[in-house]
Amino acid sequence: MFRNVLTEQANSTIIKICPPRYSGRMNSRETPILLKKVHSYLLAKSYDFAMRNTEKRCLQQWRSNLLSQARGNVLEIGAGTGVNLQHYPGHIAQLTLSEPDPQMRRILQKKNLTTPTIPVHITSWEIETTGMPDSSFDTIVSTLVLCSVPDLSRSLSEIYRLLRPQGTLLFLEHVASDHPQTLHWQRRVEPFWSLCAGNCRLTRDTAVAIQTSGLEIERCIEAPMAGTPSFVRRTIRGSARKA
Ligand SMILES: C[S@@+](CC[C@H](N)C(=O)[O-])C[C@H]1O[C@@H](n2cnc3c(N)ncnc32)[C@H](O)[C@@H]1O
Repeated sequence: MFRNVLTEQANSTIIKICPPRYSGRMNSRETPILLKKVHSYLLAKSYDFAMRNTEKRCLQQWRSNLLSQARGNVLEIGAGTGVNLQHYPGHIAQLTLSEPDPQMRRILQKKNLTTPTIPVHITSWEIETTGMPDSSFDTIVSTLVLCSVPDLSRSLSEIYRLLRPQGTLLFLEHVASDHPQTLHWQRRVEPFWSLCAGNCRLTRDTAVAIQTSGLEIERCIEAPMAGTPSFVRRTIRGSARKA
């Protein structure tokens, strides 16, 4: 579906063993690194399978509606295994897919990226450190990523900086519950959940954070994400514009 694939390897760690294999004695410093690699490998390998039911029940429809609004030069952050690829409209000028996790990016790179119209560029950027100049993009897409970034307000400041005036952030995120009891459970489960699920936080008030960054929310739909545990169910999706 996509035309050109320029793969940027700068800043990326190339992991040659897949899955990482034990090769002799490890010291105490190597153990957590190896565990992190195994964890990242398992997460990436199981992601599409774990999400398949939710994708069918709601996410595919939401992604398609959301991404139909993408225009111009588009950056998708945390592109994961490339689940949004099929939903981009043919009229966008250029698509940059950034995915810092090497295992996720490996799966992304294997996707069919051939298109007659859209040049596609894959990078290893984290949103906080893209090194791109101000006002580089017309649209930035974040689906199920702002829950995982280490510092939400720093990431949103960077998104603000990278957007052109009148540029748009398209977001689809799970957020803190508005039911006190569920919120209570989210707080209790969060430390364990974030360890298992790639730093995914359950209690972020992402809509407020978006507005605090200076972006103006134009549209925001709240809906439960079908097929997920109650503590990740509440989602928001919509668009926010840079004035
Ligand atoms: C739950 S997955 C979502 C994947 C995909 N966007 C989707 O909609 O299914 C979260 C992704 O965010 C990425 N991520 C985490 N921290 C990031 C950061 N600081 N900058 C960019 N991406 C990040 C992870 O590597 C992971 O691929």
